[in-house]
Order: sequence, then C-alpha cells, then structure tokens
Amino acid sequence: MALSKKCVVRAALAFALISVAACSSDTVSFSENNRGSIDQSCWEAVGIDSWPIKEEEQVCGTNGVLYPSQNALKCISKQAGVEQQEREKCSGGSDGGKFDPCVALAYVATRRVCGSDNVTYNNVWHMVCTSNMYSVEINAEHDGECAIECPYSPVYKPVCSTTDYTFANEQALKCKQILQPYIKNAFQHEGQCKRQQSTNPCYESNTFTPVCASNGHTYTSAQHIRCLKQVNSDLRALHDGACTPDEVKEIIGLDDVCRMANHRQEWSPICGSNNVTYPNSYRYLCAKKDKGEDLQVSYMGECGSFDYCRQPEPDASPVCGTDGVTYPHDNALYCAQASSRYLGKKHQGACNETVDDPCLHRGFPFLDDNGRPVCASNAVTYVSPEALWCAAKNDSGIKFIHSGECF
Ligand SMILES: *[C@@H]1O[C@H](CO)[C@@H](O)[C@H](O)[C@H]1NC(C)=O
Ligand SMILES: *[C@@H]1O[C@H](CO)[C@@H](O)[C@H](O)[C@H]1NC(C)=O
Ligand SMILES: *[C@@H]1O[C@H](CO)[C@@H](O)[C@H](O)[C@H]1NC(C)=O
Ligand SMILES: *[C@@H]1O[C@H](CO)[C@@H](O)[C@H](O)[C@H]1NC(C)=O
Repeated sequence: MALSKKCVVRAALAFALISVAACSSDTVSFSENNRGSIDQSCWEAVGIDSWPIKEEEQVCGTNGVLYPSQNALKCISKQAGVEQQEREKCSGGSDGGKFDPCVALAYVATRRVCGSDNVTYNNVWHMVCTSNMYSVEINAEHDGECAIECPYSPVYKPVCSTTDYTFANEQALKCKQILQPYIKNAFQHEGQCKRQQSTNPCYESNTFTPVCASNGHTYTSAQHIRCLKQVNSDLRALHDGACTPDEVKEIIGLDDVCRMANHRQEWSPICGSNNVTYPNSYRYLCAKKDKGEDLQVSYMGECGSFDYCRQPEPDASPVCGTDGVTYPHDNALYCAQASSRYLGKKHQGACNETVDDPCLHRGFPFLDDNGRPVCASNAVTYVSPEALWCAAKNDSGIKFIHSGECF
C-alpha cells in the first residue's frame, strides 16, 4: 500500500493544481465541496489548526510511516487499514524516524491553505513537503486560497519560458512565477516555443470551422485563409461562418456569379423563399438573377431545418451565456452561437453581474501552453474567448472572427 516516494514527489511538484489523487489509484483525495462527508479527524489533520506539526504528537502507522498526529492516523486508517504501532517501530529507516510529509501525502484531504510564500497548497502537509523539498521556510498564513493579484493582460503576445511552455503573454508568465515560485520558469524568448510554432499554416487546415474571407469565398478554416495569404497578401478573414449572399453580391457582383457557382463545391446552405435549399451563396445568387424579387433568403441553413434565429420559444425563459449576456431564450443563444463558436450556455435564468461577468473568467490563474487565442474584429488577438467577451462588454463592436492569432 505504501506509495512510492517518486510518485509522491511528482504529485507535490504539481503543486496545488493537480490533486494528489492523480498519482495512484490507491490514493484518496477529497474535495472541499463535500466537506460534510469528510471525517472530522481528516479535516483537522490537514488544516491550519494542525499547524505547526509537533514532533511529540507524531504517531507510527503499521505501514512504517510516521504521521503528524492521532487525527492523521485515524483519517488514514479508515482508507488504508493502517493501525497505530509503537513509536519505536518507525524509528529506523533512512528518514531516521522523522515525519515525512511527502510520503504521508497519500490519503489526505484537500483543505487548502495559504502559505507565507503566497502559494495556495492542497493542505498543510503539502506545504511542509514543499518546504522540505526546496529547503525554504514556509508558514501557514490562513485557511483557503491566497488572494493574489496576478498581473494580467487580455492581449495575446506569446512568450516562451525556459520550461519550454508558451505563455499567452509576459504577464501570464509573471503570474505563473508568483503562483509557482519554486519551478524555475524564466523568460526565454518572445513568440511561441519552437515545438508550438506552426512552420507552414498550409499543413494545418484539417478542421472544419468555416470562415468567410474578404474575396467572398468561404474557407474550411482560418488556417486555410492564412495559407492562401502567402500568395494573396490582401486576403483577410471577415467573420466566423459562411459568407452571406449579401456579402458575396457586394464583393463579387452578379456578372460572373453563375460561372463561379459551377465551380464552387461549398456547402453553406441557404433556404430560399421558394422552399428550395441552395448549397451556397453563389448558387443562390445565380438563381436570383433569374427570379429577381420573387426569390428571397428565408434563412441560412437547409429548408426544413430548424431556424434558431427566427424561432422564439413558446415558454421563453432567459438563459445566461458564457459571454455574460442574458439571452431571452435558448434559441436566441443557439442563434448567436452560429457566429461565435466558443459561446455556450452558462445556466438557466438571467446572468448575475457579480458571478457571470466574463471579465472574472478571463483565463485566470495563468494562460500557459499557448492559451486559447482568438482573433477579434478590432484586429486584436485576445488570450481567450473570455478575454474577448470582456472587451466586448465595453465595446459591443468587438466580435469574434476566428480561432487562433489574427493575421
Ligand atoms: C505576498 O503577497 C503580499 C500581498 O500581495 C506581498 O505584500 C508580499 O510581499 C508577498 N510575499 C511574497 C513572499 O511574495
Ligand atoms: C418546405 O420543404 C420541406 C422539406 O422539403 C417541407 O417539409 C416543408 O413542408 C416545406 N414548406 C413549405 C412552406 O412548403
Ligand atoms: C448574484 O450572485 C450573488 C453571489 O452569489 C448573490 O449574492 C446575489 O444576490 C445575486 N444577485 C442576483 C440579482 O441574483
Ligand atoms: C472601456 O473603454 C474606455 C473608453 O474607451 C476605456 O477608457 C476603458 O479602459 C475600457 N475598460 C476596459 C475594461 O477595457
């Protein structure tokens, strides 16, 4: 049952982010949310009230591990079947009979504590383990997470750290350094780390996330447009989703549209007022050349398919989107999703300004491994969709254009 030391040390390195449970299936970890089901002795053994750990209170388990207190052993015995034995039985071994918090981390409850180093630890033992590992003095300041003001910028401007991770920007790397001070994570160079750099966007166009481009064509992804930009430097991404007939008409005109329609293999269906589904804007416009005012766009999508944008719900009740906007009903949210692919439903009912504000969920605590950059209509690349929505709160003209960096 004893957990290998290597495993525990790796778990400790992961700090407060990954619970110790990830280490071994034997390991039990509790979340703070289900405190009610946590044995009181466990709660007391790993909290600030058990700090500092006193040598004379330590007890020896039948597995040869020394635990910091009776409560700690009681807590562990429930899960691991470890009993108490004479203190001397734990005196041998390489640790010379000292409590080793890193080994004892198996089978502990999560009860976050803020250390004097401004780091939030899973519990007091975790803090002591870290203190031993890095030979630094850390005291427990208070229960719960540390209140840290991390530097933050919503603008994506990647930097590569010495640990070979891409951070969304310099501020995100600084935040990581504050939250994990013992991991040597220094600035290495501007831009993405080599392993994430895309050598050629033309090899990456394998997702189907259509984007309308400034030439009136709809491409399978923003990468596809980026690739073509190498031969057509004026090409730009206009918006998420297929180009509408109005856009195509404006960009291409009607003269050549039927010839082009014969060459377009695009499937961005449009339902016409005649209840005919046209596969794309070109085919629709070609038909409209014949039919004139008799043909109008009923909606974007196949005829007979449900048109979220035009259907209010019978029992409309408001829903809150992940962008912090209250939509009058589900269908209005689904309609908005068509042009903002990261948008989701946060909960039923109107948004609450204090908890659903996207500015509170901008990607904190830090945006490493490249963040989730998105390009907005103001030509700014934001570190995450939340950062974009936050900016849009202030300026409703800011819209999502495509995933990845602006180009
Ligand atoms: C911890 O944070 C406080 C408040 O932000 C600051 O005054 C203090 O210097 C920090 N301590 C360390 C060790 O970083
Ligand atoms: C339009 O076509 C769909 C599918 O072909 C059909 O189910 C629907 O009844 C038609 N609607 C009208 C108004 O003709
Ligand atoms: C919003 O949420 C906060 C925190 O949960 C709560 O105190 C407040 O009453 C809520 N406001 C509304 C209008 O529901
Ligand atoms: C909102 O816009 C105003 C005026 O453009 C600007 O001064 C302010 O900093 C903006 N606030 C945020 C949170 O972006």
